[in-house]
Amino acid sequence: MITMQASTFAQIELAPPDPIIGLTEAFNNDANPKKVSLAAGVYQDGAGKVPILKVVREAQEQLLEKEETKNYMPIDGIPAFNQQVQALLLGLDSTARAVTVQALGGTGALKVGADFLKRFFSSSQVWISDPSWENHRQLFEAAGFTVNSYPYYDPETHGLDFTSMLNTLKSLPPSSIVLLHACCHNPTGVDPSREEWTRLVDIFQTGGLIPFFDLAYQGFDEGIDADAFAVRAFVEAGIPCLIAQSFSKSFALYRERVGALTIVTASEEEAKRVRSQIKRIIRTNYSSPASHGAHLVASVLADPAMRARWEGELAEMRERILQMRKLFVRRLREKGVERDFSFIERQRGMFSYSGLSRETVDRLRSQYSIYIVGSGRICVASLNEKNIDYLCEAIADVEERA
Ligand code: LMR
Repeated sequence: MITMQASTFAQIELAPPDPIIGLTEAFNNDANPKKVSLAAGVYQDGAGKVPILKVVREAQEQLLEKEETKNYMPIDGIPAFNQQVQALLLGLDSTARAVTVQALGGTGALKVGADFLKRFFSSSQVWISDPSWENHRQLFEAAGFTVNSYPYYDPETHGLDFTSMLNTLKSLPPSSIVLLHACCHNPTGVDPSREEWTRLVDIFQTGGLIPFFDLAYQGFDEGIDADAFAVRAFVEAGIPCLIAQSFSKSFALYRERVGALTIVTASEEEAKRVRSQIKRIIRTNYSSPASHGAHLVASVLADPAMRARWEGELAEMRERILQMRKLFVRRLREKGVERDFSFIERQRGMFSYSGLSRETVDRLRSQYSIYIVGSGRICVASLNEKNIDYLCEAIADVEERA
């Protein structure tokens, strides 16, 4: 072994584990055969597998046959992909002048958007919901922003505290950047109603705020068009905005890192300038995106029969999650948990914001090898007939002894 002189890195401290992915790492190292991970937002089928969608497998076979090169991709990604995913987002008949670039998953889209905003709105601050996805704060801080939070979830009602949210947003200075979850709010599963979104449009318009939508779960609430309601309402009102799309969940392409960033601009000429700047950001970060996953998404969306099959598979995922929500609430009751958890059936998307305390979450992990995010967020999409009894019995036991 080489003996080093004084180490250059001696002063570097150990970083804390990631609040979500760090749990997956700990889960993978856990030897308990009964272990259950309900941490990361990943859909599993009834057998506990993270499936490859049938239509994605089909597209992959076609791609392998016709792929002819591994040459570099364009900086802003595959034009056909950008066009298809923009239509998924804004609707086929939208006349908005929007720039869409391919990104490395939803997180990559958020980071490219954050770097763009920091370059041109350097004195703005960012506002995220309380609570929000665990990575939002650090991502925008890493881009150089001060990150604040606006009221969102009311633990008393397990619903939205719309009045407080509105009052805070009304008080923000123009050009404040406000992160909104377009549907299936992560972690709470609580979204504004259509009427509330319409009121938010007014607040953003009057206040000159910059909306940045995170759309990671399109299709997991009601369907493709319904879940784009909020984004389309802002765009139709003529509000310039940014949208980060992820295809990790809707196409189950987690490891392929497929996402897109869309910026809605006021004119063709403005769109051209914005695209040129976004391309500079991509080029200086990772040069150009990867090809495989984006080709799969583009080819499924371009073929009407494949697209219909994809929507069918997406609906199956959505419906299984709904069944698990119902079963979860019922089993908790059957196992003797007295607290009312019926609100879990009203939450939307992949997660249940369970209201379990930090102490309960820690005990579920240390005594039962059940992994849940510290906020009490449970991935309902990871529940199945085989693990649900173990989970509900463990919750009943820990709650009873609390
Ligand atoms: C989640 O919220 O669990 C997912 O979006 C996965 C992740 O990257 O955190």
